[in-house]
Amino acid sequence: MTMPEQPDTALPEDQAAGLRRLAGARGFPPLPGRLHCIAIGSGKGGVGKTALCVNLSYCLARLNRRVLLLDADLGLANVDIQIGIEPTRTLQDVVFGHCSLEDAVVHIPNGPDILPSSSGTPEMADMGNARRQMLADDLLRFAANYDFLLIDTGAGIGKGVTTFLASAPEVLVVVANEPTSIMDAYSLIKVLCKERPAPRIRIVANMVRSLEEGERLAERLQGITQRFLGMDLPLAGAIPFDQSLRDAIRTRRPLINLAPGCAAIQCVEELARSLIAERRHAKVDTTTTTNLFNRLVDVAVKADGAPNP
Ligand SMILES: Nc1ncnc2c1ncn2[C@@H]1O[C@H](COP(=O)(O)OP(=O)(O)OP(=O)(O)O)[C@@H](O)[C@H]1O
Ligand SMILES: [Mg+2]
Repeated sequence: MTMPEQPDTALPEDQAAGLRRLAGARGFPPLPGRLHCIAIGSGKGGVGKTALCVNLSYCLARLNRRVLLLDADLGLANVDIQIGIEPTRTLQDVVFGHCSLEDAVVHIPNGPDILPSSSGTPEMADMGNARRQMLADDLLRFAANYDFLLIDTGAGIGKGVTTFLASAPEVLVVVANEPTSIMDAYSLIKVLCKERPAPRIRIVANMVRSLEEGERLAERLQGITQRFLGMDLPLAGAIPFDQSLRDAIRTRRPLINLAPGCAAIQCVEELARSLIAERRHAKVDTTTTTNLFNRLVDVAVKADGAPNP
């Protein structure tokens, strides 16, 4: 992944205005009436967030949904590695005015569109609110072309990650059946559920040996959230440990091509179908989505993802 050129901190505000005109000229709908935004978090690292994001985006795309997959893990952005692409432009190039959103997006044939990221550049941290808002508006218009926006985030419960996740309308927390993953997932959920409004939070049990193990894991975590947070925590899906998934990542090939009938892809597809079914009834809150994109610009311009003071 290439680093953006040094930003011109004196970049005029009309860079964003230019993007806006471009978006308008290309006839993007004014607001995302249907966009379903889902961020993927975990607390503990290495539990399969990126793999879930990638495979879910392929499954949704194969079910004829338009999917934008955004890599917001600035510490270790690796969606491109798992997918096997080598992007030359990133979200930061868009923010710094080096290219348009359309130029940064990588189109995968029969798959999702990817908006890659690279590390933030502190010089841009003092970007004015007006410009940030304009960029956020542009992202909002651009995203309106899609049915789903999936956002991969970094591990940990640092303020940068939690602030961003908290601004998403919906968060899938990936959890593996091990005490550290469960406790870190709980710590993340605890922070998120204190937000007002709090995102809708569900869990995905990953690398389990059976659906029953996934359900037991969910019950265990639900027991904790109910007892200490008074909160229900539905299980959105369970994905088995599957060697094919490892082979897919190792060979940088989409799992859905490499092993279309494997257990993991079947379970991810089931999750994709349930998200599609829900989406028919979903009401998209434009305020929340606008807030999400404001945060995203914050994340893009600051290495730690913390909002501007
Ligand atoms: N269902 C699964 N079956 C087998 N291996 C899996 C499964 N899900 C993830 N993995 C493996 O776990 C490892 C970590 O996955 P991944 O990079 O997606 O995790 P992550 O949560 O995004 O990590 P990070 O916190 O570093 O971003 C990868 O090597 C991947 O192959
Ligand atoms: Mg990851």
